[in-house]
Amino acid sequence: MLEVSRLSVQYGRVVAVRDFSFQLGSGEAIAILGTNGAGKTSAVESIVGLLPKAAGMVTFDGRDITRQSASTIVREGIAFVPQLRELFFDFTVEETLLAASAACRGRSPVGPDEIFALFPRLEERKRSRAGNLSGGEQQMLAIGRALVTRPTLLVLDELSAGLAQGIVTSVIASLKKIRANGLALIVVEQNLEIAAALAEQCIVMSVGEAVWRGSVKEAIGSESIRNSFFR
Ligand SMILES: Nc1ncnc2c1ncn2[C@@H]1O[C@H](COP(=O)(O)OP(=O)(O)OP(=O)(O)O)[C@@H](O)[C@H]1O
Ligand SMILES: [Mg+2]
Repeated sequence: MLEVSRLSVQYGRVVAVRDFSFQLGSGEAIAILGTNGAGKTSAVESIVGLLPKAAGMVTFDGRDITRQSASTIVREGIAFVPQLRELFFDFTVEETLLAASAACRGRSPVGPDEIFALFPRLEERKRSRAGNLSGGEQQMLAIGRALVTRPTLLVLDELSAGLAQGIVTSVIASLKKIRANGLALIVVEQNLEIAAALAEQCIVMSVGEAVWRGSVKEAIGSESIRNSFFR
């Protein structure tokens, strides 16, 4: 489904991601792990077309998307939930979801009711402005906005950052429901337990490179991996 090969990302002369490769099958989930500055965000933002690629190739469902714009990649079926959520704070919940349907062009959008069925809390807050929501509600809205475009692959950048455990547990339960319908996931995380709840396999990044691959459970169980690559 997704094939990333030898991807590099640079900011001027600073190399943030070097020679990064992985594959993801249809409906599969993978976690990209690593500490602050490892290159996780740079890698996924370049895959979804938000950052230029210095080198490498990305194909999705057999099509070369290496040089496609972010808006084209959305229409190919990849949706992204950014680390900082990037909501328009003046838009209400409903307006945010409706605005996202404009990004679909050619794909039929998922209506607000389906998003509300997944995140009932958003329905209760549908006329509230995004800026007045709690952190957890904002994360639900950012995920809901991504799902409006009916993706086959959802990329989540640090879903758990700054959120209380209870909210994270509820968001994970909702994501598991949609996973059951065949949605593939890339989960960027620093928190190994959250990664384990959503993905079996992982790639650990350090200083821009993939340094370890295996199951998330094995990474959690290995003191040397935790000590070498996490805080
Ligand atoms: N806009 C930028 N300009 C220059 N360097 C940047 C920029 N954004 C990131 N970097 C650098 O690229 C490297 C990778 O950063 P990136 O944000 O991809 O890491 P990350 O793994 O997502 O970290 P975090 O867990 O803190 O979000 C770091 O050395 C960072 O300082
Ligand atoms: Mg990041």
